[in-house]
Amino acid sequence: MNDMTPDREERSANLKGMGCSRKRVEDSRFTQGKGNYVDDIKLPGMLHGDFVRSPYAHARVVSINKEAALALPGVVAVLTADDLRPLNLHWMPTLAGDKQMVLADGKVLFQGQEVAFVVASDRYVAADAVELVEVEYEELPVITDPFESLKSDVVLREDLEGQTEGAHGPRKHHNHIFTWEQGDESGTNQVLDNADVVATESMYYHRTHPCPLETCGSVASMDKVNGKLTLWGTFQAPHVVRTVASLLSGIEEHNIRVVSPDIGGGFGNKVGVYPGYVCSIVASIVTGVPVKWVEDRMENLMSTAFARDYHMTGKISATKEGKITGLHCHVTADHGGFDACADPTKFPAGFMNICTGSYDIPVAYLAVDGVYTNKAPGGVSYRCSFRVTEAVYFIERMIEVLAIELGMDSAELRRINFIKKEQFPYTAALGWEYDSGDYHTAWDKALKAVDYDGLRKEQAERVEAFKRGETRTLMGIGLTFFTEIVGAGPVKNCDILGMGMFDSCEIRIHPTGSAIARLGTISQGQGHATTFAQILASEIGISADSITIEEGDTDTAPYGLGTYGSRSTPVAGAATAMAGRKIRAKAQMIAAYLLEVHDDDVEFDIDRFVVKGAPEKFKTMKEIAYAAYNQAIPGLEPGLEAVSYYDPPNMTYPFGAYVCVMDIDVDTGVPEIRRFYALDDCGTRINPMIIEGQIHGGLTEALAVALGQEIAYDDIGNVKTGTLMDFFLPTAWEVPNYETDFTVTPSPHHPIGAKGVGESPHVGGVPCFSNAVQDAFRPFGNRHTNMPHDHWRIWQTANRLGLHD
Ligand code: CDP
Repeated sequence: MNDMTPDREERSANLKGMGCSRKRVEDSRFTQGKGNYVDDIKLPGMLHGDFVRSPYAHARVVSINKEAALALPGVVAVLTADDLRPLNLHWMPTLAGDKQMVLADGKVLFQGQEVAFVVASDRYVAADAVELVEVEYEELPVITDPFESLKSDVVLREDLEGQTEGAHGPRKHHNHIFTWEQGDESGTNQVLDNADVVATESMYYHRTHPCPLETCGSVASMDKVNGKLTLWGTFQAPHVVRTVASLLSGIEEHNIRVVSPDIGGGFGNKVGVYPGYVCSIVASIVTGVPVKWVEDRMENLMSTAFARDYHMTGKISATKEGKITGLHCHVTADHGGFDACADPTKFPAGFMNICTGSYDIPVAYLAVDGVYTNKAPGGVSYRCSFRVTEAVYFIERMIEVLAIELGMDSAELRRINFIKKEQFPYTAALGWEYDSGDYHTAWDKALKAVDYDGLRKEQAERVEAFKRGETRTLMGIGLTFFTEIVGAGPVKNCDILGMGMFDSCEIRIHPTGSAIARLGTISQGQGHATTFAQILASEIGISADSITIEEGDTDTAPYGLGTYGSRSTPVAGAATAMAGRKIRAKAQMIAAYLLEVHDDDVEFDIDRFVVKGAPEKFKTMKEIAYAAYNQAIPGLEPGLEAVSYYDPPNMTYPFGAYVCVMDIDVDTGVPEIRRFYALDDCGTRINPMIIEGQIHGGLTEALAVALGQEIAYDDIGNVKTGTLMDFFLPTAWEVPNYETDFTVTPSPHHPIGAKGVGESPHVGGVPCFSNAVQDAFRPFGNRHTNMPHDHWRIWQTANRLGLHD
């Protein structure tokens, strides 16, 4: 070796592999306006679609008169359910085993429901024509409360009348969808009946919305000459969309190409299939030219998938010393007009059965009742893994309520009940096997970092000062310890519309030693092009800068189930590592041949294979790649490619410890977040800078949900929060400085030990902000108040507790 040869440290740094805070490679195009979003796609002769939507939440559609709209110059077609009926496309299946009207068929079930689809030469002409479609409605009684719905004689889903069995078992009432039970009911009740202490609480996790910056949209282009349909769209799961499009349209799957171009945020909003996608396809087939549909902000908020809307009642029991003995949870889940929840098939309430949280609870029972109301359908995992946010909010509120009941500090109550490090892998009472964790270490680190004892002392002094009339500000300390469950599969447990939840990666190494890797996932801002290249760099010894990551085109990417529920790293990240290892295995044989030694006599070293015991004898990956294409190697095919379809053996269980310190002005209800400390453990960290960004984003969305964001309805089903004037989207003004921290507890079953992280801060953040508000009022008798804690509601809490006297 000569002196110019880089040393091992330099070679390792050059790779920009695992653990490196590599700058996001995708950002140069985003920051320079060179992104390519659905609305940027402009095809020759393209038409534009727009929806006539129902102003009523529940009404019979008596007639639809298209004449005036069709007479407007530029209008090409107005589609209604009657036009879609012959194609059997007036209804479509939902991911939850229900079916949903594509266009109103006889009646409408929520405000904003799609009634007719206008196709015109221009987006603005289409919008004008929407105004000219005359729809006669006959109003029907509106139900926006799921408890009322279960008592009402009004049948919301007339198409299901008389059906006592749904996709998830028996239906108890004509507006009931399913009951999903988990755990040991009688065992739990027995423990609760005989417990020293039982805390009971009801809480409503309000309806909200993922509200990505880019709304949903699609461009369909049917090439009738070649029989090929191309569909660009805001799809978090492009392959699943292709399969569904094939099943619905009868077009063979190889003749459909689905492309997810750049996506401006998804957060679960872009998992399901919307009527707009179907209508743009039908309109393109009918007209023979490309048709674009892009919804506006109001349409996005009113009609695309909502999140949460869970009414939860809990009972938690403990010994006098604070050891939790049992947990009972009942949920009434408002699913709106159709059950269009985006969950794995066998989990109609997602992973709500992780509601025992981070605690060693011997026995538990969960029952979820799904109910129809006159609200928009959806039920997506807004930045969480399938209802985990609801589950974590539930248990973290129950812990606080139990602490009040016991007269205990809730930090100590958590510590007493954490699952211990040596108990992992740990099987929870509701069935999940947690892979790894070290909760006590994380908790102690968090409490020390914020000087928890000091904060409690300061809070007590503030309460005394308030009582003496020296201040009108109270101080809240919000605590949360959460465990997420991310990375669906495994295939044997998890599927979507029958497609097992694996994921995939296909790698091609080019002769000159650079590479392309294609994955079944699709980034919506998470930085996959940056981080997946880092995984590969470490696995195959080629610099991340020389690896292109491509996702989202079903013609080129291997089949995968897409990106949501923080599943990319646990599943596709694992597939990437496994495919990389196949490349490395072949590279080893090539290196051994070139070095004229046995395969076992070479070993991988950062970016090369070296002869064991003779480090001066080596072949770099670049040399090996070239040899794969220019040498006839006995027993080996030419080329250097690999593919992996990864079926994860288990999900991964990231966790975290969060503390929020808040000052609340009792007279205005305005909260001021003084400090937010977030410790996350996502196992092996691929890119610390991206993790930090994910945590900042997730916490900000958590702040939004906890402190103001909601989709609210009035009594007759009008959406009261259909614009960004009413729907709270935080800006830099409201967002505090976040302090981030971490511990590293690798997943034992993941090839690189990584767990997901994108959704953890949202899952942990919501209860943390909420607990801070509630904690500020705890010394004055507050037990629980529902979110969102906007200024008015906080003021009302202060008023209810007599703090304005
Ligand atoms: O599925 P999704 O991409 O939304 O979530 P994720 O798997 O949690 O990944 C979000 C981003 O964080 C990706 O760019 C990951 O590669 C990165 N990440 C990381 O750097 N280290 C981890 N242990 C987990 C995720």
